[in-house]
Amino acid sequence: MASDIEHEKRLAAEAAATMVDPGSVVGLGTGSTTAYLIPALARRGLDAIFVATSPATAAAATALGLDVRPFHGIDRLDIAIDGADQVDDRGWLVKGGGGAHTREKIVAAAARRFVVIVSSDKLRRVVEGPVPLELADFGADATLRSLRALGEARRRDAPPTPDGGVLADLWPDTGTGLAPSELARQLDAEPGVVSHGLFPPAITAVVIVGTNDGVVHRAVTAPAV
Ligand code: 5RP
Repeated sequence: MASDIEHEKRLAAEAAATMVDPGSVVGLGTGSTTAYLIPALARRGLDAIFVATSPATAAAATALGLDVRPFHGIDRLDIAIDGADQVDDRGWLVKGGGGAHTREKIVAAAARRFVVIVSSDKLRRVVEGPVPLELADFGADATLRSLRALGEARRRDAPPTPDGGVLADLWPDTGTGLAPSELARQLDAEPGVVSHGLFPPAITAVVIVGTNDGVVHRAVTAPAV
């Protein structure tokens, strides 16, 4: 039998699949929770168009017959559905455990509704490190050095992203007491950071949490600050 966590991921993903209307343009996330979403969508046999946030998701969705298109010439998505590494009480997310957070954030921001699907072990009171980063390859060591003012910043042992970026992780120095909004602001201000894995509450419409007995829908209404 699947572990409880796998069961929770599947329930959350299957609940999200029912939220997709025929004719929609749909953003697909990356990761093991999204891996349950793709077959659930395929079973619905919807006439819909899909945009994938990673080559792995594109391959899995295409293999199951979903109509995956490049994210070019499409300027709005009806809905995007993705997993997360952490979700906190105010709706902040940490994403990017799979290194796809740059494309995931672009897709989430382009969607009318961004739906997050998680198992219950992803819930936190306040998000914490590590925060995944994608850095420009150009000057990556200088960027890492600069980031060390915020905490421990390390290059990830991973291949370059599909966009040529360098993956890294930041363990914020909690001694500075940085709130996620302040940390996000500082990371946004760092020239060599292409993107970071902190997603503000304003980007998310709803978080679907899988539990042993079913799913809980959490509307995200907290302000981004
Ligand atoms: C990939 C992501 C994933 O959504 C996140 O890592 C959660 O993955 P999983 O569903 O496997 O727990 O952000 O970059």
